[in-house]
Amino acid sequence: MNPWPPRWFAHRGGGTLAPENTLAGIRLAARLGYRAVEFDVMLSGDGTPVLIHDETLERTTNGTGRVCDTADEQLFALDAGQGEAVPRFGEAAALCRQLGLLANVEIKPAAGYERQTAETVARLTSQLWAGAAVQPLISSFSPEALEIARDLAPEIRRGLLYERVPADWRQAMQRLQGASLHCSALGLDDAVLAEARGPGIPVLCYTVNRPDQATALFARGVSAIFTDRLDLFSPETSAYNGLHLPG
Ligand code: G3P
Ligand code: MG
Repeated sequence: MNPWPPRWFAHRGGGTLAPENTLAGIRLAARLGYRAVEFDVMLSGDGTPVLIHDETLERTTNGTGRVCDTADEQLFALDAGQGEAVPRFGEAAALCRQLGLLANVEIKPAAGYERQTAETVARLTSQLWAGAAVQPLISSFSPEALEIARDLAPEIRRGLLYERVPADWRQAMQRLQGASLHCSALGLDDAVLAEARGPGIPVLCYTVNRPDQATALFARGVSAIFTDRLDLFSPETSAYNGLHLPG
């Protein structure tokens, strides 16, 4: 029986070895031995959920303008890097299921689209993974999105996502019936780790790209990390796989 959550998550699909938030990235993560991938989901101008991080197209595609203003016809014709298209959420879900990967679906609403994005993504997550052996994990920086996910897809685990964990995180965890706590590795206090340990709430940290930082976080009690450096942390290509921690 594999532990939950897995120790390593490929951040934004394939990290830095493949264009971020693409199907190629997800395939690469699986090929390198990852059991889990995190990706960001936002709505297109036509309301279609797609994998993309920024609210605007410039950084990760050859397009311009806002994702929420771009029709599907234009969006899916864009190059998201190395000839990869911006994936539909449904395509990413099917691929994760096929590869047996745990998907951390980060609901990433454009400003003003919190409710619409969360409703669409939560409902679809429930449908797309119905009956799947490996169930996904929904997370979001938006408490409103998690509240909607709790109501519309109660069976899907939820992770509360923060840059820096606020003092009242336990109340939020209870209200949102969360399963895990996700936060930036830079803003993680030992007090939070101690509070999470008692009730057995796993703490997952982003974005960890250095082995010494990963080692220190695991030693402090962190359960999992999100990494862009699939080359460094892959069980297939590196001795550093979490089973043989240096030091
Ligand atoms: O979900 C963890 C991490 O992905 C949050 O930060 O900006 O990379 O989506 P970001
Ligand atoms: Mg993310």
